[in-house]
Amino acid sequence: MTPSPKVTTAVLRTMKAQHQRITALTAYDHLFAGLLDEAGVDVLLVGDSMATVVQGRETTVPVTMDEMVYHCAMVGRSPRRALVVGDMPFLSYQVSAEDALRNAGRLLKEGFAEAVKLEGGAAFAPTVRRLVDAGIPVMGHLGLTPQSIHQFGSYRARGQDATEQARIVDDAVALEQAGAFSIVLEKIPAELGRRVAEATEVPVIGIGAGPHVDGQILVTHDLLGLFTRFRPRFARRYLELAREITAAVQTYCQDVREGSFPNTSESY
Ligand code: KIV
Repeated sequence: MTPSPKVTTAVLRTMKAQHQRITALTAYDHLFAGLLDEAGVDVLLVGDSMATVVQGRETTVPVTMDEMVYHCAMVGRSPRRALVVGDMPFLSYQVSAEDALRNAGRLLKEGFAEAVKLEGGAAFAPTVRRLVDAGIPVMGHLGLTPQSIHQFGSYRARGQDATEQARIVDDAVALEQAGAFSIVLEKIPAELGRRVAEATEVPVIGIGAGPHVDGQILVTHDLLGLFTRFRPRFARRYLELAREITAAVQTYCQDVREGSFPNTSESY
C-alpha cells in the first residue's frame, strides 16, 4: 500500500475506521528520523526511552524538558511525512494543567512536535482537556507506564487481574472523552488490548499489547538490534546491528594496525 501524504491526527483516526494498521517507531535524532520517515512509518515518537537507549540512564525518570525539546527539535525540524509526537517527561505535566500546557507548548514551539504524549489515565483527563482546548493534540499512554517505575517497583506486565483490566479500559475511555487523539498501550494481555481498541474510536497503538490493537510501536534501537542491554519479549529484532557494528569496527582497527588502511586509492 502506498503511504498517504502527510500523516495527521485525522489521518490516523481514518486509518482506524478503515482498519488500516498504523506503524510507529521511536526517533531521537535527525539521521534516524529521516531514515524512518523515508521508509514510510506513520508516527515518529520522540520517546523518553531516549534516557535508557541514548543517555545510558537506568530509568526514564531523570529526563528533563530541555533534553526532550533538544531531541524533539532534531526530529521535527525538517518536514516529515510522519506525525511527530514529543514525549512529556516525568514531572513536566503532573504538577498542574497550566505547567503541562507550558511544557507541551515548548515541545511544539521549540521542538517542532505536532502532538505530545503523556502517561496516565482518568486522573490526567483534566490536563489532557486543557492541552487539547489550547490546540495541542495529546496521545495517552496506559498499561505499563515506565515513569512510575518507583511506584510499581518493576516493569512487569500490567492488566493481570479483572480490577486492573477494568481500570485500564475506563482510563482509555476517560482519555478519549478528554480529547486524546490516540492511546499507547504497553505490556498488557492481548485480549485486553482488543477490549481497549473496541471500547474507543481513537487509534490504540500497542507495544507488547498483542495484535488486536490499531497499530504497533517499537523502540527503533530494539528493532534494529542496536540496544542490547535488555530485550523485552515483545521487541522483535529485524537486524542485529550491534553485532555488525562491532565486527565492522574490529575490522577497521585491524586494517589500521596492519597498515592496509588507507590504501593508495584512499590517499591523496
Ligand atoms: O518512550 C518511549 O519510547 C515510549 C514507547 C515505548 C511507547 O513511550
